[in-house]
Amino acid sequence: MNKEIKKIALLTGGGDCSGLNAVIRAVVRTAILKYNYEVVGFMGGYFGLYKDDYVDMDLRTVSGILHQGGTILKNSNKDNLFNFRSVDEDGNVTYSDVSDVAIANLKKHNVDALIIIGGDGTLTSARDFSRKGINVVGIPKTIDNDVPATEITFGYRTALDHIMLALDALHTTAFSHDRIMILEVMGRNAGWLALEGGIAGSADVILIPEIPYDIKKVAQKVLDRYNSGSKFSVICISEGAKPIDGDVTIKMIDKSSADSIRLGGVGELVGKALEKLVKPITGQDIRTTNLGYIQRGGVTNTFDRVLSTKYGSYAVDMIARGDFGQMVTVKHDKMQTVFIEDVVGSGKTGETSRGGARRVNPNGDLVTAAKGIGVVFGD
Ligand code: F6P
Repeated sequence: MNKEIKKIALLTGGGDCSGLNAVIRAVVRTAILKYNYEVVGFMGGYFGLYKDDYVDMDLRTVSGILHQGGTILKNSNKDNLFNFRSVDEDGNVTYSDVSDVAIANLKKHNVDALIIIGGDGTLTSARDFSRKGINVVGIPKTIDNDVPATEITFGYRTALDHIMLALDALHTTAFSHDRIMILEVMGRNAGWLALEGGIAGSADVILIPEIPYDIKKVAQKVLDRYNSGSKFSVICISEGAKPIDGDVTIKMIDKSSADSIRLGGVGELVGKALEKLVKPITGQDIRTTNLGYIQRGGVTNTFDRVLSTKYGSYAVDMIARGDFGQMVTVKHDKMQTVFIEDVVGSGKTGETSRGGARRVNPNGDLVTAAKGIGVVFGD
């Protein structure tokens, strides 16, 4: 056991997801009950660390939150303290490194180690704080399940439940009205949510970023179903899906965010294309639903409550062992560690790492099984 540690801090960065509160609870309870550490939580991700917005945490502060979506510590995906965006009164934007302010705040609170819970952007800054000598432990977070080096992130399975229930609900209207119902789901440039959610929700077509689709093949599947007597079809589309001859659909650019591109709208595009290719033949109406932020919220499911508890508790064990600059990971269903540099890359301090996402293998078991039961991916 590392005798030096008396006080730890934690923060949650990036978008929220189910299971964050369960992780916070596990961190605080393990820190206090197992190691007798003091715990301080910084509010609103890195911005709270910069502004010294904090809350002292004890067992009461984490009571009754295990099942709740969101994070009692609040989230922000805007603040890279190593490349901090400021806007003056005239609207001029400048970027500077304000990480020393955050480090001074950690020292002021006598924090010996910092647990950072977040996705690739948040973990890149975790790497950078570690480079500056802060005792950092990372916990990967995203509903997209695309963090490299870990088999599963908490929040993913709860999001899958939302997708499955949405597809179940859409099936009834699809059947009753002989319609084509399209569901667009999240996932950025990884298709896990659409793939596993689509399989669980019995989608006839699943479109994912890893397999660019030919809209004619999608239309053919719907027509084949119609001609064989199944006069409805259900399509599950990842927000990052793209046609063979085109690119992703961008919903908006959020300049205040380190990762500015927000995907969205491919479901509507596919719907419009099917209006032309299928409706004139079958007369079927097409309706599109974007499940959106419902996937990130709600009551945390059984699996994620347990996984989050393992993640949070293991992170504190890592602090006690002195496993700093590392992230908790699940490998072969076991909690393990990996260096954060090996997850987000060893790029320049301040540069947010992108592109290293863990993506679906188009020839892997999941896609093979789905194809085996007749699901079309448009390839
Ligand atoms: O990475 C998680 C995620 O929910 C993506 O699936 C989605 O594209 C993105 O975040 C949305 O981010 P924001 O909350 O900034 O709109």
